[in-house]
Amino acid sequence: MNVVSANIGQSVPRIDGFAKVTGQATYAAEPHPPGLLYGVIVNSLIARGRIEAIHDEAARAVPGVTEVMTHHNRPHTALFEKSYVDGLGVPGSPYRPLHDAEIRFNGQPVAVVFAETFEAAREAAMLIQVDYERWPHNADFDAALHQKYMPSKTRSNYVPPKSRGNASEAYALSPVKIEGRFHLAPEHHNPMEMHATTVIIEEDGALTVWDKTQGPQAVQAYLASALSLSGKKVRVRNPYVGGAFGSGLRAQHNVFLAALGAEMLKRPVRVTLTRPQMFTHVFRPEAVMDIALGADRDGTLQSIIVEGVTDTSRFEHNMENVVVWGLIGYKCPNATADYKIAPRDTYTSSDMRAPGAATGVNLFEMAVDELAWACGMDPLAFRLHNYSEIDAMHNMPLTSNALREALLQGAERFGWNGYPPGPGSLRDGRELIGHGMATGIWDAMFSPTAARARLTSDGRLHIATAASDIGTGTYTILAQTASEAFGIPIDRIDIELGDSTLPECPTEGGSWTAASAGAAVWLACQSLREKFLKALAKSENTPERIKQSEVTLTEGELHGVRDGSREVFSLQEALSFIGEASIEAEETAKPGLRDKISEMRKARFTHSAVFCEVRVDEELGIVRVTRLVNAVAAGRIMNPKTAASQVRGAMVMATGMALHEESLMDERYGRFMNHNFSEYHIPSHADIPEMDVLFVDEKDEEVSPLGIKGVGEIGMCGTAAAIANAIFHATGKRYRTLPIIPGA
Ligand code: MOS
Repeated sequence: MNVVSANIGQSVPRIDGFAKVTGQATYAAEPHPPGLLYGVIVNSLIARGRIEAIHDEAARAVPGVTEVMTHHNRPHTALFEKSYVDGLGVPGSPYRPLHDAEIRFNGQPVAVVFAETFEAAREAAMLIQVDYERWPHNADFDAALHQKYMPSKTRSNYVPPKSRGNASEAYALSPVKIEGRFHLAPEHHNPMEMHATTVIIEEDGALTVWDKTQGPQAVQAYLASALSLSGKKVRVRNPYVGGAFGSGLRAQHNVFLAALGAEMLKRPVRVTLTRPQMFTHVFRPEAVMDIALGADRDGTLQSIIVEGVTDTSRFEHNMENVVVWGLIGYKCPNATADYKIAPRDTYTSSDMRAPGAATGVNLFEMAVDELAWACGMDPLAFRLHNYSEIDAMHNMPLTSNALREALLQGAERFGWNGYPPGPGSLRDGRELIGHGMATGIWDAMFSPTAARARLTSDGRLHIATAASDIGTGTYTILAQTASEAFGIPIDRIDIELGDSTLPECPTEGGSWTAASAGAAVWLACQSLREKFLKALAKSENTPERIKQSEVTLTEGELHGVRDGSREVFSLQEALSFIGEASIEAEETAKPGLRDKISEMRKARFTHSAVFCEVRVDEELGIVRVTRLVNAVAAGRIMNPKTAASQVRGAMVMATGMALHEESLMDERYGRFMNHNFSEYHIPSHADIPEMDVLFVDEKDEEVSPLGIKGVGEIGMCGTAAAIANAIFHATGKRYRTLPIIPGA
C-alpha cells in the first residue's frame, strides 16, 4: 500500500480487503482443528406441539455418525435451569434449544446430528423422523393483532411517548388530512456469511469459539453463563464477519448447540446453518402503522397520530422504536403515538439494520408525502416548512442538526425541480417517470470502549480492541485514527479486532462503533505518544542533544529540532534509548471528552435527505429505480469511501424493502416458505442504479469525542419511502404496503 499519511477524513481503501479477496481472512466456519465433528441441526416441521418420539436409528446407522443429540440425551447446563436469563436476548422467557419436548415454533431445533464429515451429518439429519402431537397455533399477523399488548416490563424508551397538545381534536379541525394503515412485510437477514460456530477444545480444556457474531465479548459472556463455565474458560473470536445487519447481535442457537455438542462429545465441533435455516430465526418484524396527519391549507402540520404494532414470538417481547420518529423530527403542536406488539407462534423477530426507524421512518415519510400532495405542496417545500430544529418529542435541543443543508444540497445534486405537477406528468415512451423524496433520521449513539496501543521494537504500532468489523470498514478507520493520533504511516499499523480477550468494546451495532472504538483508539494512541516522549526525556540513554531538542513524532519518525537544525531517528532507535522491547498504553473512551452526555440534556441524531427517480413501465407495471441521491449529515466522516459504501449498502437494502424483499408466511405451517434466494428476492446489480451519496458538512463537538455520528444505518431510513413516493408521482397510485408489488 502506498498510503503514507492516512489521516482521518481520507478515502483510504480497506486495509483488510487483500486478506478477504485472497481467502486469507478466517471466518467462523473455517478453522479446522484435528478431530473436528460436524453438527447438522434437524428442525421442527410443526409450529406448536410436543415431540412424542424421535426415530434416529437410521441416522445412527449412517457411517461416520457419532451422536444424535436431542432433549433426551443432551448434557445439563445452566441454560436449562429455570432461573436462566439470556443476557443477550430480549425480555421474556428465552427459548432454550433442546430444553424439552415442547415445540414453540416451526424450524425449532429438535436434534443435532454429529458426524466425522458434513455430508454424513447432513444425510443422517434427513433420515430422522419425529412424531409430534400437534397443538393449535397462530402464525397469521392480522389474527395476532387482536392480541396486541404492551409488556409490563420493558425498556423505558419503548413506552409510548408523552402526547403533546390534543392530536385527535386538531385532526378533526384540520382542513387537510390523510389517514391510513401502512404495512411493512417481514424481511429476513441475508448476510453473505450464514450463522456458524466452530468450537475448539484447547489443551487445558478451555474453549476457543469462532462465531459469526457482532460481539465476541457478548457471546463469551453468554456461553460462560449458558454452560456454567468460568469466563476464563471461553474465548470467542470473530476477526472477520461476512455481514450481519443485526442478526449477530444476540447469540443464535448454533452457538449454544455447537458448544453443548463439544461438551457432550469432548471433541471440537462445528455447526453451520443453511440459507433456509437462516429463515427460521432472523427477521425484521412485520409491522402495521395507522397514521393520521392533519395540516392547515398552507401546509403547516397541525396533528400527528401514529399507532404501530410489530410482531414478536409467544415467549419473548421484541420491541422497536417504530412510532416516535415523526414526533421527534417534525414540529407539530399536537401529536400522539401508541405502540404495541403482537404475539404469534414463530421465533422472536429481531433487530435488522436501523431497527424501528427502517420501519417507522419509511412508513411515516410515505404518509407525509400523501399529506404534502393533499396540501398541493412540493414535498421538499413541505419538509422545509415543517421539520423541527430540535427533538420535538422531548423538547430537547440537538447537538447538531444539518437536515436543512441535507435537504437543500440533496435537492440540488438531484436536480429537484419543484415536483412537476400531476402524477403521470413525466413520460418517456411507454415509461412513466416519477420523482420522490423523503427525509431520514437515526440515533447517533456512543458506548464506552477501551483500546490498547503498543509500539514494538520493529517500529510497528499494534492496536487492539474487542470491536468487530462486520464488513463496515472498522479495521480501516481505526488504522487511520491511530495513524493520525500517534503519527505513524498506516502500513506500519496492525489492528487486532474480533477477540473477546482484547480490551472491552461493546457489540458492533446501532452505528456507534466508529464513534466509540474510534475515540478509544485515539485516546490510547495519544496516551502512548505522551508516555513514549516522557520516557525518552527521562531515560539516561537518550542522547543529551535530543533531550535539549524540541521533539515531535510524525510519519513514524522522531524529529528533534534544535537551533534550526533537524535530526531524525527511527522509532526503533528511539525505543532502544528507553531500553524497552515495547511500550504500551490502554485507555477507555467515555461519552464526552468534557461532559457526560447524560448531563448534556441534548439529543443526538444523524439526518438525511433522499431523492429518487423511478421509471414505471405503464403496460407491464415494472418499476426501475433509475437514480438515487442521498445527502447525509452524520458529523465527522472518518473515511468518505467506506462511509459512502455503508450508506450505499443500506440504500440497496432499502431498495429491497421498497420493491423486492418479503418473507411469505404459510399460516398453516407457521413457516416462512420462500426461504431461499430463488424465492426471496434481494436486489441484484441490475436492480440498482448509480447511487450518489454526499456528506453534508457537520461539525459537532458534543455528540462524541471525535465528533463522529456513525453511518451504518442512516441509509436505510427514508430511502424506501423516497422510492414509494416516486412511484406515486410516476403513476398516481398510492401504495401503503412495502414491498410495492405493481399492479397489486
Ligand atoms: Mo444493528 S440492527 O444495530 O446490528
